[in-house]
Amino acid sequence: METYRSQDFGDKAEKIRVEKFNLYYGNFHALKDIDAVIVENAITAVIGPSGCGKSTFLRSINRMNDTVEGVSTTGRILLDGEDIYRPDVDVTWLRSKVGMVFQRPVVFPLSVFDNVACAPRLQGTTDRAELVDIVERSLDAVGLWDQLKHKLKEPALSLSLGDQQKLCIARAISVEPEVILFDEPCSALDPVNTLKIEELMWGLREHYTIVIVTHNMQQAARVSDYTMFMLDGRLIEYGPTSSIFTKPQDPRTEKYITGKLV
Ligand SMILES: Nc1ncnc2c1ncn2[C@@H]1O[C@H](COP(=O)(O)OP(=O)(O)OP(=O)(O)O)[C@@H](O)[C@H]1O
Ligand SMILES: [Mg+2]
Repeated sequence: METYRSQDFGDKAEKIRVEKFNLYYGNFHALKDIDAVIVENAITAVIGPSGCGKSTFLRSINRMNDTVEGVSTTGRILLDGEDIYRPDVDVTWLRSKVGMVFQRPVVFPLSVFDNVACAPRLQGTTDRAELVDIVERSLDAVGLWDQLKHKLKEPALSLSLGDQQKLCIARAISVEPEVILFDEPCSALDPVNTLKIEELMWGLREHYTIVIVTHNMQQAARVSDYTMFMLDGRLIEYGPTSSIFTKPQDPRTEKYITGKLV
């Protein structure tokens, strides 16, 4: 069965193309022949049972798996038509284009300002005024600027968990990425903060391409434009979220979204 139909994407532009992509951890075949197009300015959710390869797939999009020993891949992943697995690709450059936000907020034991400024600094920005601009723009994009503009020197670890996760999103935004990958970004948060992060992601999709892994079916249904369903390393079904949740084509998708396959 075809896993996606290009007409489903309407007039949205292609941002990422995954072609016959396979990933092995040593001998273990974790991703199997993944073919997919991910479009710009939309939220694509990745769902599926634990261990099916969601995080592995997400990490493949910015080559985070490179750091795992024994990983090998075949096939291609194209970002704006360029194969990101070509040996001459600068991985630091790639990760500034394709940012990532994790399950638990990974806040550094530094001030709010330094948490947001660290990535631009690593990229070589030293001008103070420029850094101040970046910090303001990034905090503003996640709705934290008004709350934190007089608290920039305070330790980031003193923020609530929800605000720490927003700060991590601000840090991802600080280097002006084009794609943001979220791996279960709300799993450590309460329902109120979960909704806040979902609203934030919904707003961000105007400017970014967003891919989110979630175990929360309501969240996938609420927040995403497109949904991928994975099982045992394969992409089983992919299409507009409304279709996946109301009329799935594959019986395994239906079983999963109705809670009968875990
Ligand atoms: N570093 C690694 N070395 C070896 N095997 C790994 C590694 N990381 C993941 N795996 C295996 O690859 C498979 C896919 O793992 P992955 O973490 O991508 O699943 P997932 O769908 O994100 O699961 P979860 O919902 O529990 O987060 C699993 O069988 C896992 O045990
Ligand atoms: Mg995972």
